[in-house]
Formats: sequence, structure tokens, C-alpha cells
Amino acid sequence: MQDTDLDSGFAFKGAYTYTTKTGTWRIPPGLKRALPFYLHKPWARIGKPIRLFEYMAKHLGKIAHYRLFGIHIVFLNDPEYVREMLVNQNSSFVRERTIRRLKILLGEGLLTSDDPTHKRSRRIAAPAFHRQRINAYAGEMVRITAHTAERWHDGSTIDMNASMMSLSLEIVARTLFATEVDDDIREINEQTNQIMGIYNFLIAFPNAERFLHWPIPGLVKFRRARGKLDRVVNRIIATRKADGEDRQDLLSMLLLARDEDGSALSDEQLRDEVLTIFLAGYETTANALSWTWYLLATNPEVQERMYAEVAEVLANRPATLEDYPHLKYTTMVFAEGMRLYPPAWAMGRMSTEPVEMGGYRLPPGTHWFTSQYIIQRDERFFPDPLRFDPLRHTEEEKAKRDKFAYFPFGGGQRQCIGEAFAWLEGVLLLATLAQRWRMEWIPGQPVDVEEKITLRPRYPMQMRLHARSLAGTTAQDHAAILKV
Ligand code: HEM
Repeated sequence: MQDTDLDSGFAFKGAYTYTTKTGTWRIPPGLKRALPFYLHKPWARIGKPIRLFEYMAKHLGKIAHYRLFGIHIVFLNDPEYVREMLVNQNSSFVRERTIRRLKILLGEGLLTSDDPTHKRSRRIAAPAFHRQRINAYAGEMVRITAHTAERWHDGSTIDMNASMMSLSLEIVARTLFATEVDDDIREINEQTNQIMGIYNFLIAFPNAERFLHWPIPGLVKFRRARGKLDRVVNRIIATRKADGEDRQDLLSMLLLARDEDGSALSDEQLRDEVLTIFLAGYETTANALSWTWYLLATNPEVQERMYAEVAEVLANRPATLEDYPHLKYTTMVFAEGMRLYPPAWAMGRMSTEPVEMGGYRLPPGTHWFTSQYIIQRDERFFPDPLRFDPLRHTEEEKAKRDKFAYFPFGGGQRQCIGEAFAWLEGVLLLATLAQRWRMEWIPGQPVDVEEKITLRPRYPMQMRLHARSLAGTTAQDHAAILKV
């Protein structure tokens, strides 16, 4: 880090107060100049916001400030302030602009809308994500994963990230739309991939929606893909509405859902929600799993301990919903994977009224950020933070720390609606693959994070597969490993 910046007094300035017609504001310590002045610094590189947040956390502590295009931006680096933003003062905030820009694709879905639209959508969609509904998908999750496990070959090398992407995409697609629309799912996958390819570029521009109709090749591609996606999703919705059958999938639940006054989601809202769930549901889980496999493959003793639990709980049969509560260590492995590599690596809000926090007072229009990636790697809450240690997630350890020291699924009214789905999928998928395969990390590969909307691996993750044979392993072996 460039500590000399501190010494020279170039980078930082202390808290200050100023008064406008609308009030007196007290600004936290932060960068002396607007962010673009620092772009030559290694911690302020475009496309690497984690470095900036790390730098601010290291030098400025719990609350820090910088400016970008005349906007105040506050970075919160303490569970107490995260709680203020997400829970206690939630009504003073709306979505910040990166998420708002997702509207060009997701319209007014759960992720992008603000109250009152959001409150109503959440009430209507909640039953579809009720624990009992989610549990019904366990069989499908295991079946799809086992099918993948069967197609792998002993000694071959796979790109784990690519495998996790296609697995979790298929799981979300089939649980959302039931099973009989293979061609549609293929079309949705294809168009979604096209869109994601240019989407991250698109949202980097302020007011992207304004030039969306320009005849630029990338934008033409985006519009075409979005049009195709809309047609497929709208057709699925129309067919489903016409036959009125409850297929026990998420779409049926959304179609049957009613608000307290008896009203249902409109066709447009249905389209927005379906696409939202599809996108929010697959990339997050796929990245969480890819990073967890990376950590397992580079920490073989943890992988063996997880396998011992899987072998003991499942023996030679496929995992079921009933096994889920018994896969305790596997659950902690997934939790620890999401601690070190949280798929939602940061969260942002924009304040719509004056907000006071930590003794400071910021005007409406301020953007507020916090980062799971930074807080979950903070030694105040996780000693020896870079060590991959699933036992940090025992009930006893969890009770010792603030709930907002570990928050991969956010919190408050906008807490991830798919959280139960993600845990069930993550744990069953880890168990089902570990039952058949040991993953070996191929040394010498570069590893880095790519902080897009989700925290992706920047490079492919090459792993060699080794077939497991349960037959040769005794119950005593398993018990011995579990005691490690
Ligand atoms: C490991 C997997 C996942 C992680 C880490 C994750 C994380 C998050 C986080 C942090 C938020 C809150 C964002 C904010 O408040 O700004 C969120 C919201 C959301 N997530 Fe997830 N998610 C995951 C999986 C899923 C799945 C599987 C689904 C659906 C099947 C889903 C659907 C949603 C939706 C619809 C929202 C918006 C909720 C609202 O604003 O009311 N997520 N997710």
C-alpha cells in the first residue's frame, strides 16, 4: 500500500462541516480530491473497486468518504453501520444506481424496484420461496447434479467455474419452469449469456438506458437478445396462464400468488420477476460454488473431512432432503466459501433524506456502500482471516459475533429472497459431487477475483478429477477423519 500518500498529506483529509440552504452537513474523513484524481494509483484502478475499499478500510477505519462526479460516496466498514443502513434506517434509502441500471433488463422486478412497488412484489413472491416450497426442489437439485457427476471421467481436467455455471443455470431453470421446456431453457440460457457478455460494459455508463437504442453493434446485440428473451418468457407465461395447471414450480407459485387485496402480478411484473429470479439465482450460486471448490481443492485436508461426512451421512445412496440437516460440516464449508468469496461482494444504497451515521450527517443523494468481501475478511471478526476454516461457522462461534460481520445474503427488508434455495442447492450439490469425485487443483494457474455484479473468478479454474470409491473405505476411516 502507498503509505507515503498519508505522509505527504496528498490522499486524505479529515472530517469537515459545510452548510447549504438545505442544512448543515458533517462529512467523514476521506480522499482529499475526487476519485478520478487517483486513477494512476494501484488502489484506485478502474474495474477494481475492492482495492479502493481495502485501501479506505485500512487507512480510514469504519467510515470513509470520497467523491465521484460531484456525488458524496460513503464507505461503511463496520457491522454496526451495516445494520443502520440495511435495517434501522432502511426507510431513508433506495437502491443505488448500479442496481437501478439493471432495470434496462429486469424492469421493475424484486431486485431493482423500490417501495411501494417492491413491498407489494415481495409480499406476493414470498410464498414461492417459502422453506417448504424450496424443499420440494431438493430431489431435482440432486438429480441434475448426479447427472453431471456421472458424465465426468477419472483423471480428466475440467474448468470448475464453467461446470458450476451450467449446473446452477439448469437447476434454476428447471425449478422455475418445471421440466418440459428444454428448448426454451436452451434459448433463455443462450440469450442470457449474450446479454451478460455486454451487460457489465453497459452499466458502467451513467444513463445507459438513454443510448440503448443507438445503432452500435454491441447495443444491437443486446436489444436483439433481450427481445428474444422477452418473447420466450412471455410465451411461457401465456401458455401457463391458459392451461391454469399448478406444476409445483416457482412460476406456478408466482402465477397463483395474490396480494392481501386479492390482486395478482401483471404480465409485465411476472416477466420482470421471472427474469430477476433467473439472473439473481444462478450466477451468485455458481460463483459461490466455484470458489468453494477452489478452496477445497487447495485445502485437501478440509476436502477429505467434508468427504468423510458425506460418506458417513449418505453412504452409497443419493442425497435427499432429509440428509440436509445432517450435512453440518458441508454446510459450514459452503458458509466459509462465501465468507472468503462472497458472490454479492458489495451492497449499495442511495439516501433520499438526510442521514446521520457515526456522528456524521450526509445530504440526500449520497451513495452508501459496504462490502461483504472486506468485512468478512476483517480480523476484528475473523482471526487469521485468510485461513479457510469451516469451523468458524459452528453455532457457538456464530453466537459470538455480530450478525452483520457475516452477511453474504444481505439483511433487513431486502435480504435475499432466495437464501434458503441457495443453501439447499449449495450443500446438496457439494455433497453429491464430493460423494463421487475428489478435486485436485492444477498448480501454477493464476487466481484472481473479478468484481462484476457478482464476484467471479477472473480465470478458468482447472481441476483434475479423481474418482472416489466408497467401497474401499471403512466406517472407522470416516470416523477418524471426522475427529480431525
Ligand atoms: C449464494 C447465492 C446467493 C447470494 C450470495 C445472494 C445474495 C443476495 C444479496 C446480498 C441480496 C441483497 C441485495 C441488496 O440488498 O442490495 C440478494 C437479493 C436477492 N436475491 Fe439473492 N443471492 C443468492 C442466491 C439467490 C437465489 C438462488 C435466488 C433466487 C432463486 C436469489 C434471488 C434474489 C432476489 C430476487 C433478490 C432481491 C430481493 C429483494 O430486493 O427483495 N438469490 N441476494
